[in-house]
Amino acid sequence: MQKMIDLISEEMRKAFTAAGYDGDLGKVTLSNRPDLCEYQCNGAMAGAKKYHKAPLMIAQDAAAQLAESEVFAQVSVAPPGFLNLKVRESFAGDYLRQMRKADRFGLDAPERVKKIIVDYGGANVAKPLHVGHLRPAIIGESVKRICRYAGHDVIGDIHMGDWGLQMGLVITELKKRQPDLVYFDENYTGEYPAEAPFTIAELEEIYPTASARSKEDAAYKAEAMEATHRLQSGERGHRALWRHIMRVSVEDLKKNYDSLDVHFDLWKGESDVQDLIPGMVDMLKKGGYAYESDGALVVDVKEETDTKEVPPCMILKSDGAALYNTTDLATIMDRMAKYRPDKIIYVTDKRQDLYFEQIFRCAKKTGLVNEDTELVHIGNGTMNGKDGRPFKTREGGVMRLEHLIGEINKEMLRKILENAETKDYEIDESQAQETARIVGLAAVKYGDLSNQAAKDYIFDIDRFTSFEGDTGPYILYTIVRIKSILHKYEEQGGNLTDAVIRDAASDSEKSLALELSGFNATMEAACEEAAPHRICAYIYDIANAFNHFYHETKILTEEDETRKAGWIALLKLTEDILEVCIDLLGFSAPEKM
Ligand code: ARG
Repeated sequence: MQKMIDLISEEMRKAFTAAGYDGDLGKVTLSNRPDLCEYQCNGAMAGAKKYHKAPLMIAQDAAAQLAESEVFAQVSVAPPGFLNLKVRESFAGDYLRQMRKADRFGLDAPERVKKIIVDYGGANVAKPLHVGHLRPAIIGESVKRICRYAGHDVIGDIHMGDWGLQMGLVITELKKRQPDLVYFDENYTGEYPAEAPFTIAELEEIYPTASARSKEDAAYKAEAMEATHRLQSGERGHRALWRHIMRVSVEDLKKNYDSLDVHFDLWKGESDVQDLIPGMVDMLKKGGYAYESDGALVVDVKEETDTKEVPPCMILKSDGAALYNTTDLATIMDRMAKYRPDKIIYVTDKRQDLYFEQIFRCAKKTGLVNEDTELVHIGNGTMNGKDGRPFKTREGGVMRLEHLIGEINKEMLRKILENAETKDYEIDESQAQETARIVGLAAVKYGDLSNQAAKDYIFDIDRFTSFEGDTGPYILYTIVRIKSILHKYEEQGGNLTDAVIRDAASDSEKSLALELSGFNATMEAACEEAAPHRICAYIYDIANAFNHFYHETKILTEEDETRKAGWIALLKLTEDILEVCIDLLGFSAPEKM
């Protein structure tokens, strides 16, 4: 379906053309003076120079062509040459009736379906998930869902850190504790046990212990590096232990991500591409891209137009070891060979901005990707505490993700019980807990996604869990309210599918209609810019418009049945759209709250 704003612009373009002006001047935008008009056109000002004419006159000429317009109910000219516009109720009504019938509310399929890989999450095996992993998980999941909904072919890959020093640390600590384990017997040639010699609870304790020890004890650290090296060069016992660590840790990671409603199509990691590195390094050397600098192997990636220094991309350290860079480049190579993506989107902390700039330039320059392969980095800002510094535990340590979610659910539960008490309705404890989990997740995700990804924000539990304001719970509250009205309508014997939207009869009804009409434009932009915050802004406006309408309108007691059915149809469309939108943001609504 054509976008509402484009249909309106089209009508204005015709008016400009008919009045003898360039049709391009007829571009219409949303009004920035909602008190005066719904849409506006500023083309007359732009045309003044070209036509040596006062903008007011140009605007009047265009307006004169629109007296009979089926789109505009009101076209008024305001100095110096603004065209302030209101559309006809019938025009908005027609558009909504079409939206309701159309696939995906009138969002067209993309001209060309793209293969998109979203690389997000980035959890590290054997280390617990902490607050820093929250934003990439939430943003990445939403971006994946948005691109998929828009009609693209999307793969989400967690790209685990599963090949680094943390593995050597865990192995070293295990060796200290259980030196007799068969994995450490170099003469052992038999099968290794199927069961891991540790539980997840132990593993969670082993890594921090080992990491702390390595910082104080140089010999211990050297041992861990040696263990990492042995693992990476394929020693059987070390590999077998590594597989145990992977299995136990990944199982736990899956549980954690599931509870965030974050799901990956691929659980690949750095380890998966290690075999590709020698061939890639060879190719980079033969192609004349990589050269030695202070013993290390590097590729230059600076460009003439750079305003800041972009250092070379290091491929191998002077001791020949591969780096984080090397693995990311090899992963790009692997992805190109296996999936031929048109676009790869990475979601990580924005402190990796320069890093990805280097990687992308290197991949382009060396032909690891095609010239038109889009490589995009979404660098997220930091989630800060109320003191404006990165969010920490009360003791000042790194907050584990599970604990953070636990705190939110606790606060959400408190608010839900409080709300039930003030509104005097019964809610049983276990139902309240389940609701708190659903609404709590919405609070966190909406609190995050309603900010532009690159911006830092303050994690304020009290604000995020509030039922009022620009929050997840407010959006859910609105959905639950609509559901309840629709439910009652059905109980009264009404049929939702038969109900047809009518042309708006009040300002608040019209405002809701106009807000809803932006669906396809919002989705297209959200996908194009990989920007979930656009969807948040869209649904917040809808929720406000709906609540305003709801407070002014007695829906269920309306005696005119067609009118009542018209409102019900409008509510159904509102609910359907809100539900799709929150799903794209990665959360859902409870039945009651
Ligand atoms: N594991 C990394 C970290 O914890 C994030 C990985 C991000 N993705 C990537 N392709 N480099 O910082």
